[in-house]
Amino acid sequence: MNLEGQVALVTGAASAAGLGFATARKLARLGAKVWLTDLSETAAAERAAELVAEGLSARALRQDVTSAEGWAEVLATITAETGAPDILVNNAGIAVLRWTQDLEPAEWQRQIDVNLTSVYLGCRAVLPAMRAKGQGSIVNISSVAGLVGIPGASAYAASKGGVRLYSKSLAMECARDGIRVNSVHPGVIWTDMQQVAIKDNPDQFDAINASIPMGRMGEPDDIAEMVAFLASPASKYVTGGEFAVDGGLTAQ
Ligand SMILES: NC(=O)c1ccc[n+]([C@@H]2O[C@H](COP(=O)([O-])OP(=O)(O)OC[C@H]3O[C@@H](n4cnc5c(N)ncnc54)[C@H](O)[C@@H]3O)[C@@H](O)[C@H]2O)c1
Repeated sequence: MNLEGQVALVTGAASAAGLGFATARKLARLGAKVWLTDLSETAAAERAAELVAEGLSARALRQDVTSAEGWAEVLATITAETGAPDILVNNAGIAVLRWTQDLEPAEWQRQIDVNLTSVYLGCRAVLPAMRAKGQGSIVNISSVAGLVGIPGASAYAASKGGVRLYSKSLAMECARDGIRVNSVHPGVIWTDMQQVAIKDNPDQFDAINASIPMGRMGEPDDIAEMVAFLASPASKYVTGGEFAVDGGLTAQ
């Protein structure tokens, strides 16, 4: 899994405990020039500085992934400084967790915008340069909620299920162009998002661990390893795939 000479963009990479930062670190350690983007430029820059302190190549930019103009600006900067991305990891996301009767239309729309429309915008933005190079790997972070229904998470599941089939469809559109597109479906991974999700019910922590066949939540590195495989030439015959990294949760 050597990524020397490749440029990677990871969205939503500013959270120190998040999947995006773990992924950016893994890709950088494999030799990629990594761009970390997030809503907070300061936090993204702090994460990039941690990687640079390790002797890795990392830079940060502010980005709202729901903005088409924002994607154009970010890619213009990246292309000018390091060359266009060979690897895009659409990781940024939010979890709007409400039962349907309590979910306002604006909340539904926000969930779809941040988790699904952003993925389309990002893919659309990187495709021309990837097509011109005849190579690229796009990894879209979905969820186990994109594989099975989860009560109280219908909008989140709709967004992540959309990411799953969007990825497969795009994979078909790009299969002859040297561009691979896959989705990763994390199970329960202990990040800020997960802590927020169970903050009102800390007893859930033990119950969640007990519900996972491997007996524990996952770690951000578990996801980063899968993304790195899909980003790298080690997976050169893999496209349109969906990869659960969930300790067996959805195998039951
Ligand atoms: N943690 C889990 O258990 C889990 C499980 C399945 C899927 N996921 C998915 O993995 C991805 C990362 O999740 P995480 O747990 O690391 O979450 P996190 O909350 O720790 O990190 C998400 C990051 O996305 C950023 N972000 C949010 N909206 C954005 C926007 N509009 N533009 C740019 N950045 C934005 C946030 O600022 C944050 O840094 C998400 O897509 C999430 O849905 C997480």
